[in-house]
Amino acid sequence: MKVGVLASGDGSNLQAILDRLHGRGDVEVVAVGSDKAGARALRRAADAGVPGRVFAAADFAGRPARDAAIADWLEERDVELVVLAGYMQLLDPAFLARFPQRVVNVHPALLPAFPGIGSVEQAVAYGVKVTGVTVHFVDEGVDTGPIIAQRAIDVPEGADAAALRLALRPLEHELLPAVVGKLARGEVTVDPGNPRHVLVA
Ligand code: GRF
Repeated sequence: MKVGVLASGDGSNLQAILDRLHGRGDVEVVAVGSDKAGARALRRAADAGVPGRVFAAADFAGRPARDAAIADWLEERDVELVVLAGYMQLLDPAFLARFPQRVVNVHPALLPAFPGIGSVEQAVAYGVKVTGVTVHFVDEGVDTGPIIAQRAIDVPEGADAAALRLALRPLEHELLPAVVGKLARGEVTVDPGNPRHVLVA
């Protein structure tokens, strides 16, 4: 399966996909796009020989125009699955319509708790004892799409947001590539009778 990744920052989740899946049979990462020219994710892509491109807000009339350009580029590269790996932008509905049930996101909380930005900080502020990570299909809402997989951990006693984020990292790096691999092998299906229910083999 040809995969395109969108990332805004460090790209450690992109790296996990490159290390665990890229070029190993089921998955080929063929495009990495970013809204940030300086994103380390773009350097990781270049190091892996994967084409990268910057789609800076300043270069487009608005989000619909930018997202159309991103979708054009991904389609040119025959992308079948779009992975949001720390992509800190909402996607235009027209973008999602071009990749139906083909856009997934990783989120550092157990959705539907703590959607949106600052979720790790929100979890610490709330005082939850258990948190985790979620991989879900992307719909038009903020982290509201059908859940594909989740992993939970106990919140370490006294952990601040930085410590908790660190504790969640290995879960993300395990879960996201695992889900992408399952999607590539056709092991993820959406229940036609209830599109919120995602069946994972
Ligand atoms: C991750 O915590 C992810 O869950 C969130 O943004 C962060 C991206 O980290 N959506 P990285 O750029 O993959 O290192």
